Amino acid sequence: MTKSILLTTVAALVAAATFAIADENHEIIEKVMKEGLKGDSSPMAKVLEGAATAEETTALAALVKTMSGTKAPVGDQADYEKKVAELIAAMEAVAGGDKGEAAIGRLDKAQNCKACHSQHKPKD
Ligand code: HEC
Repeated sequence: MTKSILLTTVAALVAAATFAIADENHEIIEKVMKEGLKGDSSPMAKVLEGAATAEETTALAALVKTMSGTKAPVGDQADYEKKVAELIAAMEAVAGGDKGEAAIGRLDKAQNCKACHSQHKPKD
């Protein structure tokens, strides 16, 4: 009896911890999406248009970097990590001062909303 209560408690704690991690994961990704990528006047849009200041570019690079270590809400984790790593690397190259066509083109591809969402964004 006592043992089963204990096991139930442990199971509940594990479940709660799992939810907390999933929540935090979602919050990190949501913040990057809403504050960095969403909309025609987003920091990402400005960087791609060459209209962002150095500060805005550095801030976006730092924001995007917070996605490192997040879990794919759906889909293959390894594929997701590859996409996130490429997005971070492409963003850092531009923030590091490379505004050439190749660097911007790489970033444009890495931040492709549909390419990532079709694999890793939960359907709602
Ligand atoms: C490298 C992957 C990746 C790229 C690139 C990406 N997204 Fe996302 N985005 C996600 C994931 C994963 C979610 C789902 C997060 C969740 O539900 O926990 C998401 C969710 C969102 C959401 C919903 C956020 C919320 O929960 O309210 C918006 C808005 C969004 N993305 C906009 C964009 C736009 C606009 C672009 C392109 C400019 C983009 N994203 C590019 C991975 C990506």
